[in-house]
Amino acid sequence: MRGKHEGTGLPLLAVRHLSIGIQTNHTYLKKNREKSKKKWEYRLAVEDISFQINPEEIVGIVGESGCGKTLTALSIPGLLPEGVGITGGTIQFNGTELRGLSQRELCRIRGNEISMVFQEPMTSLNPLLKIGRQIAEPLALHGWKNKRQVHDEVLEIMGKVGLPEPERLIDAYPHQLSGGMRQRVMIALAVVCKPKLLIADEPTTALDVTIQAQILQLMKRINQVLGTSILFISHDLAVISRLCDRVLVMYAGKFVEEGTVRSVFNHPVHEYTKGLIGSMPSKAQKGKALVSIPGKVPSIQEKRFGCPFAPRCLRAEAWCFAAFPERRVLDDDHQVCCVWATAPVVT
Ligand SMILES: Nc1ncnc2c1ncn2[C@@H]1O[C@H](COP(=O)(O)OP(=O)(O)OP(=O)(O)O)[C@@H](O)[C@H]1O
Ligand SMILES: [Mg+2]
Repeated sequence: MRGKHEGTGLPLLAVRHLSIGIQTNHTYLKKNREKSKKKWEYRLAVEDISFQINPEEIVGIVGESGCGKTLTALSIPGLLPEGVGITGGTIQFNGTELRGLSQRELCRIRGNEISMVFQEPMTSLNPLLKIGRQIAEPLALHGWKNKRQVHDEVLEIMGKVGLPEPERLIDAYPHQLSGGMRQRVMIALAVVCKPKLLIADEPTTALDVTIQAQILQLMKRINQVLGTSILFISHDLAVISRLCDRVLVMYAGKFVEEGTVRSVFNHPVHEYTKGLIGSMPSKAQKGKALVSIPGKVPSIQEKRFGCPFAPRCLRAEAWCFAAFPERRVLDDDHQVCCVWATAPVVT
């Protein structure tokens, strides 16, 4: 059954109350004359988010630029950039707490059990290495020694991700390939060790629409054939709706709505989600101007109280500016953080 972990019912990834901060400056707290203690100050870019991904499930995160999607994704395999850190919460992967693991331990998990695909394949590939060697690298890193076996495995995965004539292409350099083919190489590299979780951060944004559709199909095939769970990040709700089982809507570092794609699309509750769905181009709107949500996402420098969407929300009342609304359960498939939802609060 989809979403169940080899019969145990445990999630593959469980993120609980995760907060991510960006270092702004530091102060020195003098304990006594000799010693001084460094204390970093953080501004929260992601605040108290919780979600889970079940085995073989495809979960999407959607939200406008700057709302914290990439930082959330990078925090899972321990890849946050310098100056950015996890300030609270837990990240359980397959029963192991990832937060606090050493880089060495994380390296063992990265590529092997969790891997990532990014937006721009050209900057992630080494221009000086033949693609066959690049795809083989994660295998070598995770202990594959037999050259013949590595070669065969590389050819097999190239075929699986739809790279034509793998025998010939194995000796090509990245610049000899189109953008779509390079993204296929990146995906091959990410799944060659058959990870349990693939994190894809806007993998189709830089591609034209036809190639985008092919890459989405490929993601779905990887999910079905290899059983890989996928965390798929996009600012494009249409893409999420085509690929994902469940969607998490993020706004200004917080989760505002979560549910099955069907439930969230058919019955959006949060005004932000409604705005996102309303701004999607559809056949019905053909010829009409696209609707956009007025205003913009607050920067992390702006002090926020209450619901961060309140300044843009047509239904906002005074209390919306006072405290962030609790998570409410609409049904098994759907949760929302909005005072207008009358469902019970998550305990
Ligand atoms: N290395 C960094 N140093 C300082 N601030 C950062 C860094 N990376 C991200 N931020 C800030 O953190 C916030 C969240 O960024 P993030 O990249 O996660 O957003 P995003 O939702 O992925 O946006 P986009 O859709 O544009 O990719 C933004 O305000 C961004 O400016
Ligand atoms: Mg991003």
